[in-house]
Amino acid sequence: MTTDNNAITNPLEICVAQKGAYPVQVEAGKQYWWCTCGHSSKQPMCDGKHKGSGIKPVSFTPTKSETLYFCGCKQTRTPPLCDGSHNSLK
Ligand code: FES
Repeated sequence: MTTDNNAITNPLEICVAQKGAYPVQVEAGKQYWWCTCGHSSKQPMCDGKHKGSGIKPVSFTPTKSETLYFCGCKQTRTPPLCDGSHNSLK
């Protein structure tokens, strides 16, 4: 028997976690995983709920410590940060 590691076992649709950004105080050099599916309960970061869906989180490592605004609607064109796309959601 073979195992297909790319098999979809968790069909998820990308959803809006929040119509707005999440401000996060980030630490320079620390790796963060931004949730792209919208289902994580640790928004805006991944908690693993995407597993088996084929959806992947986005890795982000800031170069300086500061407050950044992470996308909550999952529609940004500048992932993982907010670009205001939530303003055009209905
Ligand atoms: S839980 Fe959403 S990308 Fe991991």
